[in-house]
Amino acid sequence: MMLPGSLFRPTRRRLLAGAGAALCAPAVWRARADELPALRDLGAARGIEIGSAFSLDPDPKYRAVIARHCAVITPEWQMKPPQIKPDAASPYDFSTVDKFFDFAGRHSQKVHGHTLFWFHVPIDWAVGDTFEETKKLYGGFIRTVAGRYPQIETWDVLNELIDDDSFRLRTGYLVGQYGYDFIDFCLRTAREAAPQARLAINDYWIECAAQVCVGKRGGVLDMLKTIKEMGSPLDALGIQSHLYSRMPVDPDATYDLINEAAGLGLESWISELDVNDSTLPADIAERDALVADIYARYLAGTLRHPAVKRVIFWGISDYYNWVLYDKDHWDQRPPETGDARPALFDTANEPKAAFHAVARVLAAAPYR
Ligand code: G3I
Repeated sequence: MMLPGSLFRPTRRRLLAGAGAALCAPAVWRARADELPALRDLGAARGIEIGSAFSLDPDPKYRAVIARHCAVITPEWQMKPPQIKPDAASPYDFSTVDKFFDFAGRHSQKVHGHTLFWFHVPIDWAVGDTFEETKKLYGGFIRTVAGRYPQIETWDVLNELIDDDSFRLRTGYLVGQYGYDFIDFCLRTAREAAPQARLAINDYWIECAAQVCVGKRGGVLDMLKTIKEMGSPLDALGIQSHLYSRMPVDPDATYDLINEAAGLGLESWISELDVNDSTLPADIAERDALVADIYARYLAGTLRHPAVKRVIFWGISDYYNWVLYDKDHWDQRPPETGDARPALFDTANEPKAAFHAVARVLAAAPYR
């Protein structure tokens, strides 16, 4: 049986035995949804906020999982710049975002602001002919959005700034033209508009052992050091944690990054955690056990650090999960091996081995 926090690489036999034991523990596997340990409570007891991306899908069972296990919800795409104001002529439209606050209010949850800038979802109307004009336009956007939600305690101000090849700042959309001056401007504007909020920069592929992660970790760290040297207001590093069976996780290297960021005065948030099981076997019990082990090893390794204050899943349930519907994703499962099973709950919103593994790790995590 996988022990909490175990960092040994289990054998297939051990994993199956573990999964088998779990399957034989009726008290655990047949627990009604409202009898499962609430992950948000397990986390809160250790000083860790637990949450998930939320799609607003109306399914009652899906919503019950989000409500029971999440202290924080992140609008999965509805709060991104083009969704709020797609062009100069359109008015700001907060009607969808407001629904997240309605839901959060009913379930004593926080809403995480995601995101004020991401090259993937540009707002071209906010790009002027000069930096001064751009600051007026983009600054107006940040002030309007961040200013509308003073209850937001945490913002992803800028998302995915480091290039996957150069491991330096991306060279496109605004960051390419204005570099750190633009980053500093966004952070300072967000601080003025939302003085109550902790501000983060969020990135991916900084959690694994593959060379790309080694390079990106170095690039992210260099970026954080530059930003802090500029005196920009930055409070946290978002470690997206989209994990892949194809790229083995490196909890120790991620811990070291967290520690370096902490040395710069930054919290770390595990901000978009999921496990892409594309190379794992078709057999569901075996695959679920292997996915559970990846979650367990990664969280046990990273939660050792007191600077980790949040774990947000990027879809706590397979019922609504980007890994299943992003058919263009570079790392798709071969269709003949069955749909991906990246999350803690399955497509029927029933708990999987990963849920129980995460619950065990959270219960054993050091208090921060
Ligand atoms: O549901 C609507 C559908 O009603 C509509 O007909 C269709 C066409 O407009 O859009 C559908 O919404 C799409 C949504 O995913 C659900 O499928 C949006 O267009 C699409 O933009 C959205 O993609 C999101 C993507 O970010 C871009 O915003 C994904 O849900 C979301 O999981 C993904 O999340 C990103 C993080 O923000 C940053 N880190 C990487 C992560 C994964 O790419």
